[in-house]
Amino acid sequence: MLVKIPQILDAAGVARARALLDAAPWADGRSSAGTQAAQVKNNEQLQPVTEQDREQFRALQALVLQALDGHPGFFSATLPKRVLPPLFNRYTGATNAYGSHVDQAVRYLPQAGSGAQRMRTDISCTLFLSDPADYDGGELVIETTFGEQRVKLAAGDLVVYPGTSVHRVEPVTRGARLASFFWIESLVRSEAQRRLLYEMDLSLMALRSQLGETPALVQLTGTYHNLLRLWADT
Ligand code: NI
Repeated sequence: MLVKIPQILDAAGVARARALLDAAPWADGRSSAGTQAAQVKNNEQLQPVTEQDREQFRALQALVLQALDGHPGFFSATLPKRVLPPLFNRYTGATNAYGSHVDQAVRYLPQAGSGAQRMRTDISCTLFLSDPADYDGGELVIETTFGEQRVKLAAGDLVVYPGTSVHRVEPVTRGARLASFFWIESLVRSEAQRRLLYEMDLSLMALRSQLGETPALVQLTGTYHNLLRLWADT
């Protein structure tokens, strides 16, 4: 299930992110890729060096995480259990593309102290941070059972798609494409079950806005939550 969620960050949030990113140090993006992906990855990634960099990096991550937190569309589409702290990338100049790959299934959560925790990457996320008018190319192309989906969204918009998908980023031939990317382990591991819950939630919201709260809607909302209870792994 590929879902576009507009305006995760508003214009002020995008401007704040861009101000921090414009001052950030960038490095070869291959450090966060697996062996196959590293062979086709040709971009840059935000790589803090000094303590001040790290502070700004944390501010950027907090900006994105706060925007996600409590966003009803994001919650409904992903049912997040754990969100990997967001990373940031840039496609421009000679480092401008990322060939076809599948993201690593398991990643380590960065955390203080010993005992690194692993998480499963059920859902891949890209938050666009550049105005599409500012660059050519740079489409995120995701292979789905209904063919290729080409995604290029307004700054502040998010796309979420199954971590199982083969995907790539087309070469950027003018300007720069900045984005945040991260992964989610969902409360509901099965993509089919997540899709059913999402579609049911959308229908419930539409019915509620048309009819208000009716006894049948209360019952159906209960069924949604009971399905979630049945399928969720907390
Ligand atoms: Ni990827």
